[in-house]
Parts: sequence; structure tokens; C-alpha cells
Amino acid sequence: MKIGVIGSGNIGGNLGKHWAKAGHEVLFTSRHPEQLKDLARDAGNNAKAVSLDEAWEANADVYLLATPFKAIDELSEVYAGEYGNKILIDATNPYPERDGEMAQEVRDSNRNASEYTAMKFNTARTTKAFNTIYADHLKERAFRDTDKLAIPFAAQDEESKQVTQQLIEDIGFDAVYVGALTETGSMDPDQKVYGKSVTKKELEAML
Ligand SMILES: NC(=O)c1ccc[n+]([C@@H]2O[C@H](COP(=O)([O-])OP(=O)(O)OC[C@H]3O[C@@H](n4cnc5c(N)ncnc54)[C@H](OP(=O)(O)O)[C@@H]3O)[C@@H](O)[C@H]2O)c1
Repeated sequence: MKIGVIGSGNIGGNLGKHWAKAGHEVLFTSRHPEQLKDLARDAGNNAKAVSLDEAWEANADVYLLATPFKAIDELSEVYAGEYGNKILIDATNPYPERDGEMAQEVRDSNRNASEYTAMKFNTARTTKAFNTIYADHLKERAFRDTDKLAIPFAAQDEESKQVTQQLIEDIGFDAVYVGALTETGSMDPDQKVYGKSVTKKELEAML
């Protein structure tokens, strides 16, 4: 698959490297793509660094959203014509101390963070995954054959569910389906499965 990584830091950088290693074509991007050249080089032949415009224009199969939460408003507005019907994997979390008032409002609202992303990127098919795992564990504990860590995920339709599950499994994690985006409360910061590095069996028991 062709994957556009929007936000190439701790989460996007590591995921992009893993997906490139697994044979996917990866486009790393951020507001400063010139700073992503080393990352793209480390990720190998399947990866390159491009501008945000180029990443959206590349018509990728899947986009990973791995920016600070506060970037959602701007990105969803500026690229409104670009992500229609695309699968958007949301790995973000609202942190008021980093993201300001809008993150606090989302935390205080009666909708889950993923529902906020889906509302903003309203023509995309938003799924939720990789927001609950520590970046270090994402980096160090991928590509395991045994004792795999479980990644909870949520989706709204069958195809985006299958694709998200595949992209979790392709890099050596176990995927655990939580349900629709309305069910992702347990994945939000400080909730039941947030920050839990556990096996599939353990995660299923928690849920
Ligand atoms: N770190 C963790 O352990 C962890 C775990 C799970 C989930 N998360 C969540 O994942 C998201 C990313 O976290 P992170 O730790 O990977 O952050 P990070 O290391 O700071 O990386 C953020 C990336 O987003 C880019 N970015 C920032 N604003 C942008 C914008 N307006 N448009 C496009 N790109 C933008 C940054 O590059 P430029 O500034 O150059 O644009 C950078 O490449 C956050 O929402 C975080 O809560 C983090």
C-alpha cells in the first residue's frame, strides 16, 4: 500500500519505518519535510520525504495522522478537497498542556477524541489505532513472532477495518477490534487501555 504519514515524529516516524520495512511505500511529511531526509534514508528504498501538498496529491491508499492534536483543525480545513473517501488512521491524543483549549474542550465533551477527528475530516474514513502505545514500545517491540503486543483499533466500515488491522499485523503486532469510533472511550488518555502494553488475551480481558 501507499501510505502518507502526516506528522513524522515519535509515532509517525517509527510507524513509517516499520511499514517501509514491511514493504509498503511510505511518504513521510510534516511542515518541514526538508528535516525528514535522514528519517526517509533510514527507512530505506520504500520511503521518501515530501511536502504536505505532495503527500495529499500522491493519492495514497491510507493516511496516518500523527501530529499534535491541535493540528487537526488546520489540516482538515486546508486539505478538505484531498482526503475524500481516504482511510485516515488517527493516532492522535488531545493534551491540553500541549494542544491548548481545543483539546480541553474535546476532553470535556461527550464525544471521544476519534469522533472529533472524524467530524473534522468528515469525508475521510477515519479509523483509530496506535494512539494507546508508548512510542518506545512501538519502536522496540514491533516484528515479534511471539509475545506480541496488542494494538486496539476502531473503524467505521469493513474495508477500513480490514486495512487498519492489516497494517497493525504487518509490523508484528496483534490487532484487537474495539468497535466503532463511538466505542473508543476506553482508548482515550488515562482510560482503560491507554498506555497498556499487553498481549491480545490481556487486552481482550480488559475490554
Ligand atoms: N509519543 C508517544 O508516546 C505517543 C503515543 C501515542 C500517541 N501519540 C500521539 O501521536 C501524536 C504525535 O505524537 P509524537 O510524539 O509522534 O509527536 P512529535 O514527535 O512531536 O511529532 C509530531 C510531528 O507532527 C508534525 N507536525 C506538527 N504540527 C503539524 C502540522 N500542523 N501539520 C503537519 N505536521 C505537523 C511535526 O513536524 P513539524 O513540527 O516539522 O511540522 C512532527 O513531525 C500526538 O497526537 C500524540 O499525542 C504519542
